[in-house]
Amino acid sequence: MTQARLAGRIAVVTGAGNGIGRAVSRAFAAEGAAVLCADIAPDDADLVTRGIVDDGGRAVACQCDVSDSASAKAAVEMAVSEFGALHVVVSNAATFVPITTLADMEEEHWHRTIAVNLTGAFLICKHAIPHLRAAGGGSIILVASQMARVANAGQAAYCATKGALVQLAKGIALDHAGDNIRANTLSPGGTATDRMVARFGDLETAERVWGSKHPMGRLARPEEMAPGAVFLASDDSAFMTGADLLIDGGYAAW
Ligand SMILES: NC(=O)c1ccc[n+]([C@@H]2O[C@H](COP(=O)([O-])OP(=O)(O)OC[C@H]3O[C@@H](n4cnc5c(N)ncnc54)[C@H](O)[C@@H]3O)[C@@H](O)[C@H]2O)c1
Repeated sequence: MTQARLAGRIAVVTGAGNGIGRAVSRAFAAEGAAVLCADIAPDDADLVTRGIVDDGGRAVACQCDVSDSASAKAAVEMAVSEFGALHVVVSNAATFVPITTLADMEEEHWHRTIAVNLTGAFLICKHAIPHLRAAGGGSIILVASQMARVANAGQAAYCATKGALVQLAKGIALDHAGDNIRANTLSPGGTATDRMVARFGDLETAERVWGSKHPMGRLARPEEMAPGAVFLASDDSAFMTGADLLIDGGYAAW
């Protein structure tokens, strides 16, 4: 029998209520981790948590807005108080704002994109690092995007935050290698989630319009991102830090 790769690990996953965060939370629990499922939408966080517990895993739900420092800190502290320590952080939450050129972009949409996608990652990491250090080290995974490498019209703010996350992970990697804390980005390509529904109206249209832009000719399923996150969280990637794991069906290879 193979050993669960995250046995004894305790993880916080943000944006855990849907899509990629939900798939990562389930995969972590299936690999033996205890997971704090944090999401701004409490019902979604509850549903994912209940599913994990029903399957025999360990999880707790937490309502959290990652753009709010006190809320991010409370989520991290809840993981430690519920499970006793913290070893893994997946900063996955991202907001969705209308697709538009920069000149037409509402300033509040710019600020919200930065606040959730980038400042949210900073806050969750800032509050988590003392606990990772206390545990003897850990793994931070920032969910970026293929849009960290190539841009897309109408998404300047989103692309800017995703590029910044790659550099943020490198900065954390350098600052905290001495603490045995690794930091990497996981960069999905187009993935069939509610984000795609928000953007294209429905998943069929998303597959046709966006999936076809990927050399593999389709969108990913959220579950296709989870093995990458398990790899980055586990000792299988013990010598990997400051790197970007691109799982994009070849999108950025054009
Ligand atoms: N779906 C894709 O095609 C795709 C491609 C590349 C990168 N990504 C990235 O993957 C990550 C997950 O995307 P997804 O497609 O699963 O999205 P999703 O919209 O399905 O899920 C995002 C989750 O984040 C939560 N959330 C939003 N704002 C929050 C906040 N302020 N605090 C806490 N939680 C918050 C939402 O409630 C939701 O449950 C994001 O970082 C996204 O940028 C997605």
